[in-house]
Amino acid sequence: MTLQLPLMETILLWLVSVSSGALQRPDYDDTPTPEFLNPSWMADIPSSRPLSEITMPGTHNTMALYGGGLAECQSWSLPHQLRAGVRFLDVRVRHVGGNLTIHHGISYQYAHFGDVLQAVDAFLKEHPSETVLMRIREELSETRDIYAAVVRYIHTYARWDLLWHSRRMPTMGEARGKIIVLQEFPGPALGMRYSSLHIADDWQVPSMDHVSEKWQSVYNHLEKALVSDRSRMYLTYSSGASIRAWPYALARRVNPLLYDHLTARAGKPRRFGIITADFPGAPLLRDIINFNWGNKTSA
Ligand SMILES: *[C@@H]1O[C@H](CO)[C@@H](O)[C@H](O)[C@H]1NC(C)=O
Ligand SMILES: *[C@@H]1O[C@H](CO)[C@@H](O)[C@H](O)[C@H]1NC(C)=O
Repeated sequence: MTLQLPLMETILLWLVSVSSGALQRPDYDDTPTPEFLNPSWMADIPSSRPLSEITMPGTHNTMALYGGGLAECQSWSLPHQLRAGVRFLDVRVRHVGGNLTIHHGISYQYAHFGDVLQAVDAFLKEHPSETVLMRIREELSETRDIYAAVVRYIHTYARWDLLWHSRRMPTMGEARGKIIVLQEFPGPALGMRYSSLHIADDWQVPSMDHVSEKWQSVYNHLEKALVSDRSRMYLTYSSGASIRAWPYALARRVNPLLYDHLTARAGKPRRFGIITADFPGAPLLRDIINFNWGNKTSA
């Protein structure tokens, strides 16, 4: 299995690269750059508003840009994602010999955790009105105990006060210029607990025949976010994957459903919480962001 998988992935990668060109649609974009940017939209959010009341776009498996169709979830670099308006990052690290590298499954993503911290720090210095939420999760190694390594990377590649360092829900004003870690590993508070969020992450989609069940889960959770406790942060993943339903193929089917659903509800402020996607298009991100005010973009 360990020998066969890389070979199989190479063949699959080749098949994908010859059989499908890149697409740029309002809901879906697997080209290298966004259609347009929206780098400082949080400047217009009142500073007194708790983050849990903000509707914001995120990316699932933010750093999964390489490894072929089965592993890739995004096509924009992290700086491009941030400038396009993405404010929730899903970062999976692998803990090896004290180092934190970025992987998706078996695929190394040519980056380490320091690269992620540096990119976000640079973005926040350039756009101090913004905040970035970062889920950090260890995958693949024998231990989830990455606290000491994360702390070392923060000191080496960023700075201690870049983080929020509290379990409490910050307001927009408190969060500006900071990374709000959504901590999925043990240890003292580097940020909020990931498990304190209300999350729908039905990522196991056995085949393309199950798109409607996946969409139903997304739809139900978005409806729930609208009417539920606004002091609790809601997080909805529209992404999914399996050997018979690759991330890009699913996103090409689910993203349009999400886009149509949101477009139909535009024109009024609504709290959906965080909505994450694979390969989102810039117009989809814009429409998510506009729910903070309820303004409508004419198509
Ligand atoms: C950890 O990173 C350092 C610095 O990049 C490198 O020299 C070392 O070989 C890495 N260790 C492992 C186990 O990968
Ligand atoms: C919606 O309103 C907000 C706040 O005034 C503004 O920042 C944003 O650019 C508007 N969006 C569009 C598409 O006009």
